[in-house]
Amino acid sequence: VKIKSRIKDYSVEMIDDIFSLSQSIKINNTRFFFIIDEKLYSIYKCRMDKFVGKSKKILIPAKEESKTLPYIMNIYRKLFDNGFNRNDTLFTFGGGILQDISGFIASTIYRGVRWIFAPTTLLAQADSCIGSKTSINFYKWKNQIGTFYPPDKIFIDPNFTDTLTDRDFYSGLGEIIKVHLMGDEGSFDSLSKYLCTKKLHAKSDFTQMVSNSLKIKRSYFEGDEFDTGRRNLLNYGHCFGHALESASNFEINHGEAVLLGIGFSNQVALNRKILCKTEFLKIESVIKPYYPVFDLKSISIKQIINNMKHDKKRTDKKLVMIVLKKVGVLEKRTDIEEQEIEQIYSKFVEYIHE
Ligand SMILES: NC(=O)c1ccc[n+]([C@@H]2O[C@H](COP(=O)([O-])OP(=O)(O)OC[C@H]3O[C@@H](n4cnc5c(N)ncnc54)[C@H](O)[C@@H]3O)[C@@H](O)[C@H]2O)c1
Repeated sequence: VKIKSRIKDYSVEMIDDIFSLSQSIKINNTRFFFIIDEKLYSIYKCRMDKFVGKSKKILIPAKEESKTLPYIMNIYRKLFDNGFNRNDTLFTFGGGILQDISGFIASTIYRGVRWIFAPTTLLAQADSCIGSKTSINFYKWKNQIGTFYPPDKIFIDPNFTDTLTDRDFYSGLGEIIKVHLMGDEGSFDSLSKYLCTKKLHAKSDFTQMVSNSLKIKRSYFEGDEFDTGRRNLLNYGHCFGHALESASNFEINHGEAVLLGIGFSNQVALNRKILCKTEFLKIESVIKPYYPVFDLKSISIKQIINNMKHDKKRTDKKLVMIVLKKVGVLEKRTDIEEQEIEQIYSKFVEYIHE
């Protein structure tokens, strides 16, 4: 997949066994500094050590708390202390959290350095790795600070997903489902077939879904990289999802929250007669089995609404939400009422728990 960017064009390459690549990715006159997910490193230690060789490495725990300015200051410190200079290259192994942190660092240190990213979660492979966004959290509000800065090169090795927990694998499905609902009827059919196979972990199947997801996502942001128009629609599932994720103190992970956010947004659209009942039920029949099991009753709707007020897409007094009119057709609504969210939430909670 090739991506045109106003910052720098870049590409995604699917490869089987990234660890065998060590010679071919060498860039002349550059040193690599590795930023690696701590848990991933412990799983792949032997192969990772061989790949990294004598280069410096920094291990980071994949927690939302790591996506904060105080934590990131420590990483700048480690890079400077180890003589990182502007000809050096950052190389990241990890999921969306490591991507957000190291992308932010790559874009700000010396006003931008070379950066290679090997996404290791399904979510990062199928969604976050492209689109140039880097984000960090501010207090408990998600992704409030960030930059646009793509990696120079992305290597996707599907073998990494073998070691994901089921929960992390299913979290990746949240974003895959989102973009397939944003594609066309053909992409919705592929999604339905894929989710029916019950062989979700079969590499040949999900590798195809990853590639489709990246192409659909690209079709929404190319031409609007800085998110001022059509790209806003990619926030489908996120207006409510981000607010829920924060309100749960990140007990609900990102992909799970996005899937619940999609379900919630569809309820809003149904209630407003933007989405017809037949289309709503068609979508529910495919996605409902994948809603995460979580006690939503324990989460305060007031807190969710408070968090929704911090949505970056909100510019008016009312709340904002991306809603689906039918598969592949979405619109941004800026007239969502707090009372409407409260009413739909109580029905939604019953529905999820039934
Ligand atoms: N920048 C963007 O465009 C963008 C888009 C979507 C999401 N995000 C962000 O991404 C984050 C979520 O990312 P994520 O879902 O990839 O999760 P993550 O980075 O939190 O990783 C999830 C878990 O998987 C572990 N892990 C990573 N790779 C592994 C592997 N191969 N085997 C075993 N364990 C592995 C991690 O240690 C962690 O415990 C959120 O903070 C979200 O805001 C960013």
